[in-house]
Amino acid sequence: MAELPPKNWNINKIINDLDESGFSIIDQAYTEEYLHTVHQECMHHLNEFRDAAIQNGVVSKIRSDHILWINENLPIAEQHVATLMQLAQELNQAFFFGIREVEAHFACYNTGEFYALHRDNPQKKNDRMVSAVLYLHSEWQEDWGGQLRLQDKQQNWHILEPKPNRIALFQSDLLHEVLAAQQQRLSITAWMRSNHSIWS
Ligand code: OGA
Ligand code: MN
Repeated sequence: MAELPPKNWNINKIINDLDESGFSIIDQAYTEEYLHTVHQECMHHLNEFRDAAIQNGVVSKIRSDHILWINENLPIAEQHVATLMQLAQELNQAFFFGIREVEAHFACYNTGEFYALHRDNPQKKNDRMVSAVLYLHSEWQEDWGGQLRLQDKQQNWHILEPKPNRIALFQSDLLHEVLAAQQQRLSITAWMRSNHSIWS
């Protein structure tokens, strides 16, 4: 396993935030150097991204972004996935989530692209427990749109800016959307998965 990128995350804050509101924000998640290399890896593979709206030949109207699933061909991004797996182990101890794996893709929203209101785990039908979105672009201005609008556990709405080097972490069953971006918006979306579904 390759070395993991340095980080300095406040695990207690993350656990408290998730417990109280169902989401947590990690700013300055990584070093500038790591963010730069993962951004470069993303840019290098942009021509391999595919329409996220098309799954098994079926076209969905609720999203217009483009994605590329992360695997061993994307070793820099895989370091982030491995780091999330470490975080998942801490969350498992705090919440008994039973997370066993992390799946992730790069996502690219070009100008005008969006992802309408949805849950990542509707009716708890899949085994996604926690969603984690890391924003990779090198700059983001407030009038560029692309915010993550998220409803917390108390049903209060939050508008979260996709700031570079920020991770938005949230329970996968919470309602959220990505507002239309006015500039190219790059991220890694990851899901921490339990394998509960094998029991049901
Ligand atoms: C998703 C998603 C949020 C974001 O990919 O399911 O909701 O801020 N992403 O990119
Ligand atoms: Mn989502």
